[in-house]
Amino acid sequence: MEIKINPKAEQTDTIIFLRTKEQAEKENMKDFKGKDFELHWYYDTDSRKFFVGLGEEEKVTKEKIRKAVYTALEKIQKIQLTSLTVEIPKTKINEKDSAVAITESIILGDYSFEKYKTDKEKLNKKIEKLYLIGSKELQEELLQTQTICNNTLFARDLANEQADIATPSWIARKSKEIAMQTGLRCTVLDEEDLKELKLGLILGVGKGSINPPRLIILEHIGDPKSKEKIVLVGKGITYDTGGLYVKTSWMEEMKIDMHGAATAFATVKTCAELNIKKNVTAVLTCAENSVGPNSYRNGDILTSYSGKTVEIRHTDAEGRLVLADAMEYAEDKLNPSLIISMATLTGACIRALSDFVAGIMSNEEDKVKQLIKSGEETYELLWQLPLFEEYMEDLKSEIADIPNLATKHRDYAGAQHAAMFLKSFIKKVPYIHLDIAGPTINTSRRFYISQGGTGYGVRLLIDFLKSN
Ligand code: BES
Ligand code: MG
Ligand code: ZN
Repeated sequence: MEIKINPKAEQTDTIIFLRTKEQAEKENMKDFKGKDFELHWYYDTDSRKFFVGLGEEEKVTKEKIRKAVYTALEKIQKIQLTSLTVEIPKTKINEKDSAVAITESIILGDYSFEKYKTDKEKLNKKIEKLYLIGSKELQEELLQTQTICNNTLFARDLANEQADIATPSWIARKSKEIAMQTGLRCTVLDEEDLKELKLGLILGVGKGSINPPRLIILEHIGDPKSKEKIVLVGKGITYDTGGLYVKTSWMEEMKIDMHGAATAFATVKTCAELNIKKNVTAVLTCAENSVGPNSYRNGDILTSYSGKTVEIRHTDAEGRLVLADAMEYAEDKLNPSLIISMATLTGACIRALSDFVAGIMSNEEDKVKQLIKSGEETYELLWQLPLFEEYMEDLKSEIADIPNLATKHRDYAGAQHAAMFLKSFIKKVPYIHLDIAGPTINTSRRFYISQGGTGYGVRLLIDFLKSN
């Protein structure tokens, strides 16, 4: 997509105008009242004009702008147009933020996962040209926005690929390919390496599948002089059947159970492409949780990288296992100053917060605040859940060091139990856990966020890295 911003506009013949209620009234726009996402259009001999309502001036937000723009885009897609102009609205949101929101909405809204549709004629045409009417100085900012959004789409593509193709070794090959293109440093540990290094939790989870596990490390060194290094550990379960304790619901969505890894991957890729002056490493912990004669069982005891034993009480609580091994390895070998885990980890988190908000769990209160702030900016929302020590008392095993499922109160606070389990594998590095089960999996389209994998977290983390 070509994106241009012009003071006077080298316009296309298709223009989107956004209007608040107050503006619509002042301009006396007849039936168009400027209500939330109200859409009107008219054609004259040489142009098409689309008007979308932003509601009351007081309540305009960046997210409202994104949604309003998508409302017009949806119509424009149906008419099969490939170029459009958007006038940056004059509201309490400043010009730069408005321009970024518009660009995000068009790039993200124009995506759907179409690889397996064979009748290409029937598909919407892609937007090729986007023009904005506003100040020229914003051009550079919009190119950055484009890179970030393209990486959000990269994460969606990874998450949406079917599990028979997107196996752990496929993700490893992709990682090497992208590392070659962007200058990231890539290391892949295959099942032999994992055995040698004794990452028994990843191996245990992956045992039941013919697609063996991989631990993939992608490093962006943006500030070689600094000792700061953020390590993003992403859950990469390429398919989650539930294991022998097989799932009875949500299985269709479980090709997306590697979205934590997809987000971590796309985020370091963005860091390299934008040359962000921070050290950021992604650790993708990839395995398939499958059913087979060699599957791990309830009652088995697995041993982690550091030698800690885990009693398996539920084969569907596999995410925390692959993460725990990867986090121990990361703390031991990668010198992190902060570890952030990201995972489609619990249904409990979705029940607590719904599917458009991720749970953030950590005692690093300053960092939590910064991340929540970035979540508001990007509308990749986060809400904090507590990590009281009491939760740990529910995680007691008679026969091993820790169970992978609460042995007491197992129907309570499932997201926190999972987070406390993970935290117990960290020795001393500051740690934040994001349970992204809800907002990464979209059962149906929400404005500019397509059905399926959403790419959640890339814009959030890049905002966090750029502003702190
Ligand atoms: N991948 C799932 C969590 C999930 C469920 C994500 C639904 C998105 C939608 C995870 O591996 C899982 O199965 N979690 C269990 C944990 C339980 C057995 C303690 C869950 O949440 O039911
Ligand atoms: Mg599971
Ligand atoms: Zn899972």
